[in-house]
Amino acid sequence: MLAEKYPERVAKIFSKYPDKRSGVMALLYLAQEEYGWISDEALSEVAALCEIDPTQVKSIAGFYTMYSEKPKGKYWLQVCTDLPCALRGADEFYKGLCDYLGVKDGGTTEDGLFTVEQVMCLAACDHAPMMQCNFHYHENFDLEKAKTLVDRLRAESAQKQPSSEK
Ligand code: FES
Repeated sequence: MLAEKYPERVAKIFSKYPDKRSGVMALLYLAQEEYGWISDEALSEVAALCEIDPTQVKSIAGFYTMYSEKPKGKYWLQVCTDLPCALRGADEFYKGLCDYLGVKDGGTTEDGLFTVEQVMCLAACDHAPMMQCNFHYHENFDLEKAKTLVDRLRAESAQKQPSSEK
């Protein structure tokens, strides 16, 4: 439970806002960090902390692509395929990355390391195409650079060393 495990962090979040409901997004980040994704249980927990209805929390979690409502891999690769990135080859890049990982659109590799998804604009259009890996931006990216990153993260995971995901 977030309140029991991270009482200082939860209190700090609430201290920034005039009411509890305003802390919902920060608490969703905390829940995702703790559980790896936003499950129905996590939604209910955040709703109880914010003293709002779980359906309100679900609508927020479902709207923003930085929250995942399904289990995902250790590394969450989000490729922007919105128009400016698409004009610079994002669709081919995304398809090539899926093929390299052996997954379909939105899939997770069998080893549980990588989940790959298409997302809408991540506000780095001037450095298109781009990809996020666990919220780290990789701009002016392409398939060969993505393969190098995947190989490095896979090797680091095999050695059980923490990575900065950069
Ligand atoms: Fe890809 Fe904006 S369209 S970052």
